[in-house]
Amino acid sequence: MKVAILPGDGIGKEVTAQGVKVLKAVLGDSRSYELVEAPIGGAGFEAEGDSLPPSTLELCRSADAILHGASGVPEDEHRPPQRQAGFALLRLRRALDLYANFRPAFLFPELTGASSLKREFVEGLDLMILRELSSGLYYGTPRGIEPDQSHVRRGFNTMAYTEPEIERVGHAAFRCARKRRKKVCSVDKSNVLETSALWREVITRVGLEYPDLELRHLLVDAAAMALVRAPLQFDVMVMENTFGDILSDEAAMLTGSIGMLPSSSLGDGKKGLYEPVHGSAPDIAGKDVANPLASILSVAMMLRDSFDLAGEAARIENAVRAVLREGYRTPDIFEPGTQRVGTEEMGDRVAAAIGNHLH
Ligand code: NAD
Ligand code: IPM
Ligand code: MN
Repeated sequence: MKVAILPGDGIGKEVTAQGVKVLKAVLGDSRSYELVEAPIGGAGFEAEGDSLPPSTLELCRSADAILHGASGVPEDEHRPPQRQAGFALLRLRRALDLYANFRPAFLFPELTGASSLKREFVEGLDLMILRELSSGLYYGTPRGIEPDQSHVRRGFNTMAYTEPEIERVGHAAFRCARKRRKKVCSVDKSNVLETSALWREVITRVGLEYPDLELRHLLVDAAAMALVRAPLQFDVMVMENTFGDILSDEAAMLTGSIGMLPSSSLGDGKKGLYEPVHGSAPDIAGKDVANPLASILSVAMMLRDSFDLAGEAARIENAVRAVLREGYRTPDIFEPGTQRVGTEEMGDRVAAAIGNHLH
């Protein structure tokens, strides 16, 4: 088990330290594993003048799994997209062909009161956003900012998908739903975009191979509304890269905080990239207030998806649950009557709860 640890920038470093702490606590001396740390994002620029240094990419290629914190620095504001720290991540996802990004929006019952929605709309929430991650609007060409003949600048991007790209993420969605509540909702904008018209046609065709599952389609604007009107109707939602980026942040708030949302990014094999859905949060970095649970829960996803260690994954999730039940909260999920703790202490408590369950 070789795991590349890429803390990145801002709170990425703080939450990854807690993820690693919990990983060590759950593995103990039970098996041999290797953790190798490398810079990415702004940290990559600083160390090697490249947001994704060649040595970091090489490490990720040789690793069985990757734990990423967050990449992004305030200076990015003055840089074009492809020169920004966060772009390292887009290069990494593409280089490893990680096309299926699973973002589970699960509401721990203890956090019902922390959700942005009223209790009756979110109690029991457990949905999976499957975001296509290696194509679509993020990667389509042509792209750029160029002056036209009259020197008026024009910015442009291309949303494009091939049939095989849609097919493979479609299969991933149906396979995932089969292990859950057997419902797939495909999200697109097929009333306007040709890419989406093809998406809907291909997903429908793939769905015929899964007659035991329910498939329906929603336009992305309606899906954004439905997510805050009646989110309990959803099981697996599959969508284009950009749509998934946006709707997963929206879904995060139903669970109490973006600091609660982990993710797993897979390709055809077992190698995966695991990371919180949130970013480097420069507004709270360095203050020991960031919620590390998204990183910790990403470690659980890693153990399950890349290493087939479902028992260890469940032990992490149960430990998180136990700490929440005891009333400990970082500020983003704090409610009156609970006990406020920092990033480090939350990590320590989850690690300790894993130990407690051992004996
Ligand atoms: P963000 O997710 O970093 O922060 C959005 C808001 O959520 C902020 O108010 C922040 O304080 C809060 N927040 C985020 N994570 C939290 C946590 N764990 N606990 C408590 N509060 C939390 O998004 P942003 O501010 O739009 O982006 C900041 C930088 O991060 C940018 O450079 C962006 O490109 C980058 N980014 C990186 C990733 C990634 O590496 N996966 C994801 C998103 C954004
Ligand atoms: C995410 C992030 C990234 C994305 C950024 C940092 C490039 O927002 O993982 O959700 O847009 O994919
Ligand atoms: Mn995002």
